[in-house]
Amino acid sequence: MSTDSTQAAQRILDLRTELDGHNQRYYVLDQPSIPDAEYDRLFRELQALEAAHPDLISVDSPTQRVGGAPRAGFTEVRHEVPMLSLGNAFAEADMLDFDRRVREGLADDLPPGDLFGGGAEVEYVCEPKLDGLAVSLLYVEGQLVRGATRGDGSTGEDISANVRTVRNIPLKLQGSGWPAVLEVRGEVFMAKAGFDALNQRQLESGAKPFANPRNAAAGSLRQLDSKITASRPLAFCCYGIGQVEGELPDTQLGILQTLQTWGVPISLELYLARGIDACQAYYQRIGAKREALPYEIDGVVFKVNNLAWQRELGFRAREPRWAIAHKFPAMEELTELLDVEFQVGRTGAVTPVARLKPVKVAGVMVANATLHNMDEVARLGLMIGDTVIIRRAGDVIPQVVQVVLERRPLDARAVEIPASCPVCGSHVERTQLVKRSKGKESFSAGSIYRCVGRLACQAQLKQAIIHFVSRRAMDIDGLGEKSVEQLVDLGLVQSPADLYRLQFDQLVGLEGFAELSSNNLLAAIDNSRKPELARFIYALGIPDVGEETAKVLARSLASLERIKRALPEVLTYLPDVGLEVAHEIHEFFSDAHNQNVIEQLGQVLDIQGQGELGAEFAACTTLAGLLDKLHIPSLGPTGAKTLASKFGESLPKLLEADWLDLRQTLSEKPANAVREFFSVAEQRERALKIEAQLREFGMHWESEKRVVAGLPLAGQTWVLTGTLELMSREHAKAKLEALGAKVAGSVSAKTHCVVAGPGAGSKLAKASELGLRVLDEAGFVEQLQALGVTP
Ligand code: IVH
Repeated sequence: MSTDSTQAAQRILDLRTELDGHNQRYYVLDQPSIPDAEYDRLFRELQALEAAHPDLISVDSPTQRVGGAPRAGFTEVRHEVPMLSLGNAFAEADMLDFDRRVREGLADDLPPGDLFGGGAEVEYVCEPKLDGLAVSLLYVEGQLVRGATRGDGSTGEDISANVRTVRNIPLKLQGSGWPAVLEVRGEVFMAKAGFDALNQRQLESGAKPFANPRNAAAGSLRQLDSKITASRPLAFCCYGIGQVEGELPDTQLGILQTLQTWGVPISLELYLARGIDACQAYYQRIGAKREALPYEIDGVVFKVNNLAWQRELGFRAREPRWAIAHKFPAMEELTELLDVEFQVGRTGAVTPVARLKPVKVAGVMVANATLHNMDEVARLGLMIGDTVIIRRAGDVIPQVVQVVLERRPLDARAVEIPASCPVCGSHVERTQLVKRSKGKESFSAGSIYRCVGRLACQAQLKQAIIHFVSRRAMDIDGLGEKSVEQLVDLGLVQSPADLYRLQFDQLVGLEGFAELSSNNLLAAIDNSRKPELARFIYALGIPDVGEETAKVLARSLASLERIKRALPEVLTYLPDVGLEVAHEIHEFFSDAHNQNVIEQLGQVLDIQGQGELGAEFAACTTLAGLLDKLHIPSLGPTGAKTLASKFGESLPKLLEADWLDLRQTLSEKPANAVREFFSVAEQRERALKIEAQLREFGMHWESEKRVVAGLPLAGQTWVLTGTLELMSREHAKAKLEALGAKVAGSVSAKTHCVVAGPGAGSKLAKASELGLRVLDEAGFVEQLQALGVTP
């Protein structure tokens, strides 16, 4: 053998071993360790080498096989008609070659070519290539009797119980006229929204998130416990057939359309193209839509429409000659983690950012990726020097999804959180998580690290100002990020209040500030001097306080003074404010530096919308509620209620009570617990302090009957979904909030009502699944009118 072919033989062996390993991880374990794009490159390298050295081809080469072996635990299924794979095209030229081969193969059937060398055009069915898992569904007499994975193409796994849980797979075909035996083939996939929600749940429950929707779909479908599959947001899309005993149309499109009449889901993007140019145009169209589609696709599949012609063209090794997949640029690529740097955000959170060896991902150069927090670094097991998989999905900031452990260099370094802030040098401290058990609060270390420099830290100051002026906060137009940086760097702005002291002479001449823009900015600043309380609170940028919480604070407490002084327990009376957030708010206002900033702002601003305590809040503060909040062991909400009414809603009276008094209302255990709880001076004082504050805020629950008219929808959570045609969503939300309802973004068992306009999807489905009340827009308008509100 020549050196050249010895080298080729060795490379072929290496590639086969490597690809076999990847196949095992991809098909059997659902845990690929390299991105598909990298796999494709290795695969193509092997194909090219084998083409150049045909004598080295062997039957067990990965180029000659499809997929992987079944996983232990599932019964094996033999596919009567093998489930094959598709050849890939990566460029237009590959598509032209494909079309040429098709036309050459059909030369006898096609009308003769013209004088210019062009032949008659072939009709191709075009459809997106969904990125999920191929499945076969066997229907006998219209009943779904078996579901199977592709496996190695001839033997798959029996996943019948699992496919039955996929909601859009018909268990029984609709209509009539279906073949006695019909094998439907298609892709089980997870839509982007479902994938994000699933990963959120995974993270919350401490489980490992999935790297991408394909892995999530495969991992969900190949579960031995079908209850797990059922809890995953899977969907099916049919693209073909296998075994058939009976009649079906004789074109690809005809078959799919017929299957659709029987209730089998097919792609909404299906298209019949005449000739290769029309195929290329379709590829461009779908490419432009790719990011907007609700599911991930990795290419477009083209199939000869005429089934007789498909049969005539036949197969070559693992691929049909009548179909091809034209791939899109990959969303995932391999690169190297050069370093991890730390960025300081608005609330001082110090977050790790990956600095990468620049790599092109789906057409965009990527050099940085977010790492969220140190938990994420630990979860990924990331070390500097690692080879990592980067994923860029849509507009989302690129993510590091996985470390390729096999490629870790010997000198890889651990990622460490800096002890001091990289911007201002202040101490970096670990956040605290507040927990309460047995009436006592305890703190544990959180996973967020914060620079304690506050607005003395330039990074925090810049971000705080950018947030302060943003549209939903103080809405000061004409102050972009660059300008804020300039003002801070020049020392003209050292706190938000400084904005209100800016002078024309200081601005004009700065980069981006001519006379007109300086005047415009000063006018915009001046216009923001009378903010609504909710806007102002939101603008302060309190950690964990978004627009919604800011609104709740403003509506319930209705004065900056009260919000500033509210005790954490008092804050937890507010809807949606938990212990953690309550502590964040309390801590924010207890901080001397923040107090100073707010004081300064108070001098230049005239905050609107302050006054009486909100009705909603007044309605929910009761002595029983207070007792409940103290978390006295063994005292449940019912016990708290009886106790409160027995002692005339008066905490001092309750504190005076002796054990016998308590025993008259409560059984022994809770009576003891209450006595014990209040025998601790600190706890007694705390309770009295909370009560005193509530009273000072205007609550008088001791007086026999408080006349507090709760708002009609107080305590209710509503969800708006789909398109509203009669009013904007913002408007509908404002109306509901004015009635005391909370408007949430997702449906849960706690939702009271869902308003669904046209185009409503998963939220509506969930609402009907949970049996919730659903209104269309007209019904909603009626409801508003019934409550005396003009829609
Ligand atoms: S046709 C013989 N059509 O891609 C033809 N496959 O790379 C076999 N896929 O195993 C498949 N969308 O999992 C076909 N519209 C589509 C597809 C599609 C996704 C997957 C399928 C197949 C793999 C081949």
